Amino acid sequence: MHKSVMLHEVLETLAPYDKATYIDATFGAGGYSRAILEKADCSVIALDRDPEANNRAKKLEESFPHRFSFFQGKFGEMAQFIPNTSYDGVVFDLGVSSPQLDEADRGFSFKLEGPLDMRMEKKGLSAADVVNSFEEKEIARILWVYGEERKSRAVARAIVEKRPFESTKQLADVVHAIVGFERPGFDSATRTFQALRLYVNDELGELERGLEASEKLLKVGGRLVVVSFHSLEDRIVKTFFKERSGGQPHGSRYLPEAPRRRATFLLKNRKALLPQEEEIKLNPRARSARLRWATRIEGEA
Ligand SMILES: C[S@@+](CC[C@H](N)C(=O)[O-])C[C@H]1O[C@@H](n2cnc3c(N)ncnc32)[C@H](O)[C@@H]1O
Repeated sequence: MHKSVMLHEVLETLAPYDKATYIDATFGAGGYSRAILEKADCSVIALDRDPEANNRAKKLEESFPHRFSFFQGKFGEMAQFIPNTSYDGVVFDLGVSSPQLDEADRGFSFKLEGPLDMRMEKKGLSAADVVNSFEEKEIARILWVYGEERKSRAVARAIVEKRPFESTKQLADVVHAIVGFERPGFDSATRTFQALRLYVNDELGELERGLEASEKLLKVGGRLVVVSFHSLEDRIVKTFFKERSGGQPHGSRYLPEAPRRRATFLLKNRKALLPQEEEIKLNPRARSARLRWATRIEGEA
């Protein structure tokens, strides 16, 4: 089962109250949705792009029949399929859930032998399509941009030499042979698998669109809470909050200053909140988590 990450901090920052309506943009195993519903007499609209989340959501629909509803879809497009109203909070818990990682068939894990798939929605381009048909240069770019893999070119070369690939294990073996052992407790295929997963699911594009949609959907005083798991995601969240709270993220001394955007969020903590040591001991997946949050203020999205 999935252990929700930074749940205590999510509840503190989202601060659910009675009669309010929240969006849980990444339902997963429903840990956040359940906790929000238990914390206050509020409503939760949950969504997830993974069709498997549907079944897990049924249990919550039964337990909270008038306060919980689930939609299958991408948070980048949520404004088009959830009720058109303004919300008191939106929460994101990015990445994959334990049910996705632990099911070998989904192909997300290099620890389990499974088809090289990694598609959260079970449709579209798969990880196998990328490694088996893309040009070496493009594979290297994906590994570098989305995985920050320093040996991206060498790994891409080996992939092209050894393809076609069918399974996760086959790919992990080729990456291990090129990148080698790095440090105890860290698998050197992590970056390659992360890169393929982010690319196949366009996770960074989704994140940008999801944050922009939240800005439109939140009412004044509503809160946006985002838990991310690696630097690429955190950078997008940090930049979004900085821009939307009146800061200038990309100032350059060579360019004329861009006009300041009117702030739409109030940022209380400039720094990300980190998980407690206790939580990391109980749940190693929490190790890299970062929570950023802000309150919607007046101003056009
Ligand atoms: C880390 S899990 C969420 C776990 C959840 N907070 C809990 O406590 O059980 C992330 C979930 O977000 C979903 N997801 C990722 N990207 C998405 C997107 N763009 N739109 C909707 N759901 C997405 C994944 O399918 C996965 O189920």
